[in-house]
Amino acid sequence: MTTDAKILSALRANSEGVSGAQLAEELAISRAAVWARIEELRQAGYEIEAGPHFGYRLVSSPDALHADDLLARLGKTRVIGRDIRVFEETTSTNDVIEKLARDGVKEGVVVFAESQTKGRGRLGRKWVSPTHQGLWFSVLLRPELSPQETTQLTVASATALRRAVKTVTGLRMDIKWPNDLLIGGKKVVGILTEMSAEVDRVRHVILGIGVDVNQEIFPPELRKLATSLKLESGGEICRAELATEMLRELDMDYTRICGGDFSAVADEWEAACATIGRNVSVQMGSRLIRGSAESLDDDGALLVRTEHGHLERIIGGDVTLEK
Ligand code: BTN
Repeated sequence: MTTDAKILSALRANSEGVSGAQLAEELAISRAAVWARIEELRQAGYEIEAGPHFGYRLVSSPDALHADDLLARLGKTRVIGRDIRVFEETTSTNDVIEKLARDGVKEGVVVFAESQTKGRGRLGRKWVSPTHQGLWFSVLLRPELSPQETTQLTVASATALRRAVKTVTGLRMDIKWPNDLLIGGKKVVGILTEMSAEVDRVRHVILGIGVDVNQEIFPPELRKLATSLKLESGGEICRAELATEMLRELDMDYTRICGGDFSAVADEWEAACATIGRNVSVQMGSRLIRGSAESLDDDGALLVRTEHGHLERIIGGDVTLEK
């Protein structure tokens, strides 16, 4: 953790205030250095009161994502979030992670952007990422899974993100296979999993996550398809709190999968899934499959009983829920 992260962490742990002397001792720096860091944090938008009786006290945090703040809120995780980087603007956070992956950076690094100029979704779609209104982030993973097994990561991300949203906002989201999260049939969270692999070995996986958090209005073409957590809950959501809860839950499910315990994740996924038991049509390239979604396979594939009675394993494609 950086010095700023440690200061923010100490201020959050001591809401009554913490003395400059105590901070200086805990961080092994001078009181003047503590004061200089506090000034920097104030410049970054943190409202920090100072007084002779309580020392320093955190009054409010800005609605902006700061790597130090996210690290301080998150605390220690096993893999995901041990390195966090925040950009004001980027093309796509998946692009940034791809470059870090090629540079050999360790798994677990997370890149957030306040806005993306070329955010992308599944199946080559564009992903709208308005400044400071959502969470647009990507995670680098280097799992010991076969390329086929990486669907497990996609499935696990959906359950993890769903739990995080429930904890922070109280809202319940439905899962649409493989990893769209919806409220009232409208999309709130999308996940784009990109992979670099050899025939039987994954080099790395990029989990790109987009969460519509505080938008009050969507472009006309998205209004029937998308909604935000603010529109659904009726209140502004603290993005930093939601982001850290999401990283904590993702880290937990990643640990479960790496430990070979996908079945617990799959059970949770099936219980929250709006796709199972429904009639669906699945567009896979030029092929259209119609049938009833029966269950999830061991590797996360969707099992669809077709109109002709065959059981099809779906590992990709665009699923539409039929009436
Ligand atoms: C989808 O539902 O189609 C997936 C959307 C994924 C969007 C996120 S935003 C952060 C990351 N960077 C991107 O360019 N895309 C993903």
